[in-house]
Amino acid sequence: MIESPDNALPGIDRSTATPLHRQVYERFRTAIEHGVLRPGDRVASARSLASELGVARGTVEAAYSQLAGEGYFCAQGQAGTVVSPSLPVQRPVRAGSRPVADAPALAGPAAPPPPPLQLGIPALDAFPRKLWARLMARRARAMGAADLFYGDPAGHAPLREAIAAYLRVSRGVACQPAQVFVTGGYRASLALVARTLLVRDDRVWIEDPGYAPTRDVLHSAGHRVVPVPVDDEGLMVARGVRRSPKARMAVVTPSHQAPLGVSMSLARRLQLLDWASRAKAWIVEDDYDGEYRYAGAPLPALKSLDGHDRVLYAGSFSKVLYPGLALGYLVVPESLRERFENASRIASNGCPQIMQATVADFMRDGHFSRHLKKMRLLYARRRALLVEALHKAFGDGVRINLQAGGMHLIARFEGHRDSDVVLARRAQAAGLNCQPLSARGTTSVESQGLLMGFTNVASPTQARQLATRLRAALG
Ligand SMILES: Cc1ncc(COP(=O)(O)O)c(C=O)c1O
Repeated sequence: MIESPDNALPGIDRSTATPLHRQVYERFRTAIEHGVLRPGDRVASARSLASELGVARGTVEAAYSQLAGEGYFCAQGQAGTVVSPSLPVQRPVRAGSRPVADAPALAGPAAPPPPPLQLGIPALDAFPRKLWARLMARRARAMGAADLFYGDPAGHAPLREAIAAYLRVSRGVACQPAQVFVTGGYRASLALVARTLLVRDDRVWIEDPGYAPTRDVLHSAGHRVVPVPVDDEGLMVARGVRRSPKARMAVVTPSHQAPLGVSMSLARRLQLLDWASRAKAWIVEDDYDGEYRYAGAPLPALKSLDGHDRVLYAGSFSKVLYPGLALGYLVVPESLRERFENASRIASNGCPQIMQATVADFMRDGHFSRHLKKMRLLYARRRALLVEALHKAFGDGVRINLQAGGMHLIARFEGHRDSDVVLARRAQAAGLNCQPLSARGTTSVESQGLLMGFTNVASPTQARQLATRLRAALG
């Protein structure tokens, strides 16, 4: 039921000469004309709206009867009163503004699926939706009055426990549940770290090329980012030390560098930890897709080598479950736990309890490890399909340097004199969401190539069609 949305029916103004029933009438009419209320929407009963607005029931009934008389409302017996379904649908406009032709409409519930080759999206067709719906329904049914209260802003306790158990076994990260903070995803985790540990103008090493949101979050929090080059062993620590020895923090993707896909070598990991402990700097380990490794077992996290407690570990459920879930987590050293408890209390009300509880059930009941295992096999197969199709379509014209893990590949097109930015634009014009590698960093010459997500390439036929379309697009 649509019950007087704020921008449809602001408070009644008793100081004007306009009668109260007229104010109610006009507010509904404007809401309908501005598309805030749509044909078929139910409106509150006269009794409940009168009580909400603090006016007599007869006042609202007078307005409703005028609206019905003019064709705006239509009574539907037991079902109550609705906005007349026969009215034309109006485009919504912003509160307080006059209707304008180009007012932005909110996306409907059925957003279009991501375009082919989109990066960083798990296989949406392979998510166990039925099982998930069952777990969520079970949680919804079991909800008691106490579950309606605020949750712990640091996270739902059973989920923090499940994450700690998972990290210990699968990622080699030894932590207590109290060190785990549930967040709205990686950016929320990074923003929480920055807010808690940094002050304005602090310098932070970031990877070059790297993940743009890392730079954006730090920038917008008033910190100075220092791009540090990445080679095939990961972040070049010596370069970072040369450029900014006194940086307060480094943000790295050691399991699977974003976007190059290399794993940080053990030597570099130790060098980075050594710098952090001597400089009293922090390291944020962004382990966004470390679970996906197709040759051998997943690498232990950098955090597992953190003898001096300098590493904050950031994980996300976007890749291992689905991005619309918007949940991630942060593991902090025990010495920082209290500071983060305070900071998370200040930051927000936490994340929705029912979603956290559902993820906890999914992990606890063993579905999570089964799902990961299935996805690892599926992604290895889908990657092979795309690689084979690209080789068939481009022959020697394409070079694909596969890494041990990840959810995307980098294809380099030999013999093309155009930059990867131009090639990506052509691919995108053909509906293929390839991204230029060079746009991800400040060093350009050797970092040319097209990034392509392979996780949603569902069949050999689709792989062939995509590769043929790409070939035609690139020319
Ligand atoms: C490098 C990197 N880090 C983190 C994430 C996860 O971000 P979020 O939790 O905001 O979905 C992504 C997702 O694409 C990523 O590519």
